Amino acid sequence: MNQISVPLNSTHNKSEFSCGKEMLDNYLHKQANQDIKRKLSACFVVIEAQTNLIKAYYTLSNNSIPLDNVPNDIKVKLPQSYHTIPATLLGRLALDQRFQGKGLGKLILVDALKRCFELSKNIGSFAVVVDPIDQDAENFYKKFGFIKLPDSGKMFLTMKTIGQLFE
Ligand SMILES: CC(C)(COP(=O)(O)OP(=O)(O)OC[C@H]1O[C@@H](n2cnc3c(N)ncnc32)[C@H](O)[C@@H]1OP(=O)(O)O)[C@@H](O)C(=O)NCCC(=O)NCCS
Repeated sequence: MNQISVPLNSTHNKSEFSCGKEMLDNYLHKQANQDIKRKLSACFVVIEAQTNLIKAYYTLSNNSIPLDNVPNDIKVKLPQSYHTIPATLLGRLALDQRFQGKGLGKLILVDALKRCFELSKNIGSFAVVVDPIDQDAENFYKKFGFIKLPDSGKMFLTMKTIGQLFE
């Protein structure tokens, strides 16, 4: 499967993006470029070809999970001497309202997971972690198999499970 997203660049029209959640809109409008320049996160977008409007975006960065937060059934299979487990953070994911409810959310999530899986072949990453903005977002990730990380609002899906989707 080819990626449907490309890295955000200055030709993309981000000012009209509106997903209905102000924090996620503001991030794209005001902060994404700064974070990219500072190497704090990478931002990928799906573009409407004729207009260069952004249909959807997501961000990725390195992350870690304290071993003690990993659910027991998974934790027992990991080296107990590791205090933290490397992971990839899918920090934000949002679609412009005009494109919601038509299957693009699923496609962009799969695109993000595919990118994370490919990256994990070069830099170890045990899982993809998401940080749902609200209960609605949590329900969306739950539908795709993400599991809650105890003691945090975050959720995760192991890279092994993700790999089974693609290989
Ligand atoms: C959450 C979001 C990404 C979903 O995208 P979407 O295009 O509306 O979703 P899709 O049409 O691709 O739906 C894919 C599947 O997920 C389900 N789904 C969509 N939103 C859901 C939700 N909030 N809760 C549970 N399931 C959901 C759909 O019913 C569909 O199921 P199906 O494959 O069985 O038919 C989108 O609504 C959005 O950008 N919301 C605002 C930003 C946001 O909340 N981001 C969340 C991450 S912080």
